[in-house]
Amino acid sequence: MKALVYHGPGKKAWEDVPDAAVQDPTDVVVRVDTTTICGTDLHILEGDVPTVAEGRVLGHEAIGTITEVGDAVHAFAVGDRVLVPAITRCGRCAYCQQGTPSHCQTVGGIGWIFGHLIDGTQAESVRVPFADTSLYTVPEDVPDQQAIVLADSLPTGYEVGVLAGGVRPGDTVAVVGAGAVGLSAVLTTGLWGAARVIAVDTNKFRLEKALDFGATDMVEVGPDTAVEVLALSDDGLGVDVAIEAVGFPETLLTAASLVRPGGTVANVGVHGTPVELPMQDLWIKNISITMGLVDTVSIPTLLKMVASGKIPAEKMGTHTFALDQIDQAYDVFKHAADNLALKVVLQPA
Ligand SMILES: NC(=O)c1ccc[n+]([C@@H]2O[C@H](COP(=O)([O-])OP(=O)(O)OC[C@H]3O[C@@H](n4cnc5c(N)ncnc54)[C@H](O)[C@@H]3O)[C@@H](O)[C@H]2O)c1
Ligand SMILES: [Zn+2]
Ligand SMILES: [Zn+2]
Repeated sequence: MKALVYHGPGKKAWEDVPDAAVQDPTDVVVRVDTTTICGTDLHILEGDVPTVAEGRVLGHEAIGTITEVGDAVHAFAVGDRVLVPAITRCGRCAYCQQGTPSHCQTVGGIGWIFGHLIDGTQAESVRVPFADTSLYTVPEDVPDQQAIVLADSLPTGYEVGVLAGGVRPGDTVAVVGAGAVGLSAVLTTGLWGAARVIAVDTNKFRLEKALDFGATDMVEVGPDTAVEVLALSDDGLGVDVAIEAVGFPETLLTAASLVRPGGTVANVGVHGTPVELPMQDLWIKNISITMGLVDTVSIPTLLKMVASGKIPAEKMGTHTFALDQIDQAYDVFKHAADNLALKVVLQPA
């Protein structure tokens, strides 16, 4: 089969690899019907995630059809249409049982294994371990174009941004980075009653998307970003919650500069280098900082809201490519501003 193989920072190739196959009795094999590219894949290609070995098939999001099941799989059968989430879970370890499978001990202590510790979803097929406890059935009335957003971006913006940030009714929220993850936070802050949502980005197209997704204001990054955001906040004191969804030192510092005393910075971005924070200013303002890897445990909730039309997940996809055009898809996604791109959708030709 063909797959996108990582060959070290800046290097990848769509090439022949051995077919995905059941290895353990709890595995299934899923034929990939739809996959996409995450900002994290760009971080991997920048060399920011050194735990990704050369030779690894990239990708951690898919909608697909089961083609093979291991002997111990009971919940799924060949032919089932499933959502493959970014996080794999055994369902039995202490972390899985407390609802934080991002640290599933059975799969190695980090639930994000696809396109990281094992071969991923940017391929014609993928082996899925612990299928019974990891996969979700996709309702018939939810098309791939919507469902694919639930594999990672939507639960990430919601769980690591909105829930971790503790957004409450009446809050003013800034979202730094209006990619699929930041826009997912924009889409779901309203569920918790945020009164004002300010999108902050360098990309005008994505800022306009943010307004379409429910942001009340947008600020294009420039020398006065913080001044402009503070001017939009109550009494000019800053926002209640600043969500960082880019993953650079400067964007975390921007998020920290936007938050009012007693507020929260919710870091979602994947960082590849240390960040020096102005602790001398933050401690006395009683700022909380949260961060983390998504658990994807909100998928069933979000799936219901997508199915009912409450969350317009289909608006995320701006470009569709055949799987074997994945190099072009990466180019378009990487240069999103020039290409008016948001989420790129990849499907077999
Ligand atoms: N914590 C998790 O579990 C988790 C899961 C998935 C993704 N992520 C991370 O979330 C982040 C966003 O992912 P994505 O798929 O939306 O990525 P993306 O590349 O589509 O979006 C990033 C956005 O940041 C904007 N940006 C770049 N520089 C900026 C700056 N200086 N100021 C403001 N905005 C700037 C870009 O224009 C873009 O819109 C990435 O760091 C990704 O690795 C984290
Ligand atoms: Zn991701
Ligand atoms: Zn586990």
